[in-house]
Amino acid sequence: MPKILITRRLPASLDALDAFASVEVWPQRQPPPYEVLLDRIRQVDGLLCLLTDPIDRRLIEAGVNLKVISQMAVGYDNIDVAAATARRIPVGHTPDVLTDATADFAWALLMAAARRVVEAERLTRAHQWQTWEPDLLLGADVGGATLGIVGLGRIGQAVARRAKGFEMRILYTNQTRCSPELEQQLGVEFVAFEELLARADFVTIHTPLTPQTHHLFSDYQFEQMQSSAVLINTARGAVVDPAALYRALSQGKIAAAAIDVTEPEPIPSDSPLLTLENLIITPHIASASRQTRTKMATMAIENLIAGLQGKRLPHCVNPEVYS
Ligand code: DGY
Repeated sequence: MPKILITRRLPASLDALDAFASVEVWPQRQPPPYEVLLDRIRQVDGLLCLLTDPIDRRLIEAGVNLKVISQMAVGYDNIDVAAATARRIPVGHTPDVLTDATADFAWALLMAAARRVVEAERLTRAHQWQTWEPDLLLGADVGGATLGIVGLGRIGQAVARRAKGFEMRILYTNQTRCSPELEQQLGVEFVAFEELLARADFVTIHTPLTPQTHHLFSDYQFEQMQSSAVLINTARGAVVDPAALYRALSQGKIAAAAIDVTEPEPIPSDSPLLTLENLIITPHIASASRQTRTKMATMAIENLIAGLQGKRLPHCVNPEVYS
């Protein structure tokens, strides 16, 4: 019987796996320590992991029987894919099923930051709501504003579709320009990154974390943005330099930010970012709807089963292993 390690309890049935594999599910809420992963990887045929598990070259090379790595996430920057490919191990991920939930959440953050919802809630609970005031907690209009989307992949496109309902001007930047048909359908304008920073009222990040996008937002980029601009990040924390974000928000280089992802995760309890009123921070939950997380887990299980059966993974990030 093939052996499998699943690094956390999943919100989906494991019946299909139990039928033909011996399954160990890491029972704790915290991820398995690296040494535990290293020990188990030597024994298993399949690994189902999460974005909190560092699946590096050492682990992959230790997995002498490893036939498949299946990640329950669309992003896979925690996995050394090159090391897996070198050993012809397919790596699965879970695209598409979380696109809408993540785009919805980016919008939730955008609206909350624009209209200062979290600050307002804090003020109310602190019994500081004394009367209706003409200038209490003034925010920014979203309707008719300019939205800048950094990364027009699946999630960026879903964000753009929602922006149309707010009659926004939508700018985007991307590694490659989209087709004119798609641009027209989404109502988006392709611009250089610096132009987007200068023109957008709201900048939302939807790019994967790669060596090229690491700290893509640093002091220089915040200098380019409008002092009234709002930054949203639901992609990966390390796309934004946290020290530069602190400087930008505390010195008024931008008005506000709302981030679902931080560098590192979880955010250290002594991070100066936690002291800022004009920053909303949530704990990497953009895809966390019940339905979406179940779909992600189910898709990760399907990838795992395909890999164990020597079939092509339905959603594989390194299809070159099959050539
Ligand atoms: C992903 O899937 O990469 C998200 O960050 C978690 O849903």
